[in-house]
Amino acid sequence: MTKRYELSELIRSDNFIDGKWVAASGGKRFAVTNPATGETIAQVAESDAADAHAATDAAARAFPAWRDALPKDRASVLHRWHALMVENADELGRLISLEQGKPFAEGRGEVMYGASYVAWFADEATRIYGDIIPQQQRGKGMSAVKEPIGIVAAITPWNFPLAMIARKIAPALAAGCTVVGKPAEDTPLTALALVMLAHEAGVPPGVLNLISASRENAVPAVADWLADSRVRKITFTGSTPVGKYLARESAGTLKKLSLELGGNAPFIVFDDADLDAAVTGLLAAKFRNGGQTCVCPNRVYVQAGVYERFADLLSTRVAALKVAPATDTAAQIGPMINARAIDKIARHVEDAVNRGARVLTGGKRLPELGLNYYAPTVLADATPDMQLSCEETFGPVVPLFRFDDEADAIRAANDTPFGLASYFYSQDVRRIDRVARRLEAGIVGINEGALASEAAPFGGVKESGYGREGSKYGLDDYLSIKYLCQGGLE
Ligand code: SIN
Repeated sequence: MTKRYELSELIRSDNFIDGKWVAASGGKRFAVTNPATGETIAQVAESDAADAHAATDAAARAFPAWRDALPKDRASVLHRWHALMVENADELGRLISLEQGKPFAEGRGEVMYGASYVAWFADEATRIYGDIIPQQQRGKGMSAVKEPIGIVAAITPWNFPLAMIARKIAPALAAGCTVVGKPAEDTPLTALALVMLAHEAGVPPGVLNLISASRENAVPAVADWLADSRVRKITFTGSTPVGKYLARESAGTLKKLSLELGGNAPFIVFDDADLDAAVTGLLAAKFRNGGQTCVCPNRVYVQAGVYERFADLLSTRVAALKVAPATDTAAQIGPMINARAIDKIARHVEDAVNRGARVLTGGKRLPELGLNYYAPTVLADATPDMQLSCEETFGPVVPLFRFDDEADAIRAANDTPFGLASYFYSQDVRRIDRVARRLEAGIVGINEGALASEAAPFGGVKESGYGREGSKYGLDDYLSIKYLCQGGLE
């Protein structure tokens, strides 16, 4: 039997270290606010390096027993955690909406998405095979076994407060690692609730530790993990500049890193595409979480022959999207996460318009709805000199670029330091094969806008980072290979 909690019971405001809820050592707190209203939801622990260190101490003490636990016992704990997440999906979904702003249906969907990684890695825990290496010399046996890498530090973003931390913690625990974590300062409450459920599921004290810190204190807290040689791995989802900082600062202790960084995804619509399907796919990919997703299309390239028709079809559908508070059951887009985010969106649109873009729909803030709302926007006549062509907008803005031939589209799509997701629509099988191979990205959507799945490898190339989350490959990032060579066998 799994237990169902009220929302108020899921809201925790202390750090979770060594199986206990504890205040930050300095006694300080910071406010977590509702992005739609600015109201304070909770005052959470303002942690610093001492708290980060205490979390590592606990994770180090817990590691030997968790490493040596039978994989099927680790799997059982993860399955119980999964069951608790599913049982509490409504309230967790409400908590996500409250602190992050996404509509409830999307918040609940995120819970099920995050839970799917937990179930996946629960099963994978029992399938960590090694190899017997065919004999090379008489009397010598050689094998390769996989071992947990050690203590993992998980640093997670605000856009998916549950799914991103779940898909880091689950493989780490499945592999036999212990974890110290810090969720984003905007959205720590969902992560704290998740840890509470993990404890209830039977994760032993010290195996999973979570601290919260505001933007100001995050650097000293994380720096403690970067410098600590006991922390063997960093797994991070967030911006490319922060990813580079983590890589640089952890070089002193040569940690293994998984970095899921910025996107700037291209979405290409060829003349031979099914235009209705392309519009539907673009809406699904672009407006998920109000455009605040690393895999959201940021640049939409449309071939000249279908440009005007596609722009019309798209603008009609985008103008009909319902922007409303997360509590409105009809809401499709909620508020953006904070004032910085919405200022960036407004700056990108203003810059594009000043450089000749035409607003087909949207193009403005919606203060009448509350804080941080921006109208879903389509801009025609986008060009490469605009800021939104080189930087992720991370909001509900679709710029349409026009192109003439396939080679130009591929060149433009790849003309970015990033390479996370890319998408294209075409009905020509030879073109599909060609374009899929030439796009420089870790993920390619072909006539499909919804790509996320726990069974698929998620991750990028170029400055979008390295490492893969989910799928049979996702566990490798938390394991190291040990070669055993035994002599004297004959
Ligand atoms: C992300 O925005 O980083 C993750 C999106 C996803 O899991 O599809």
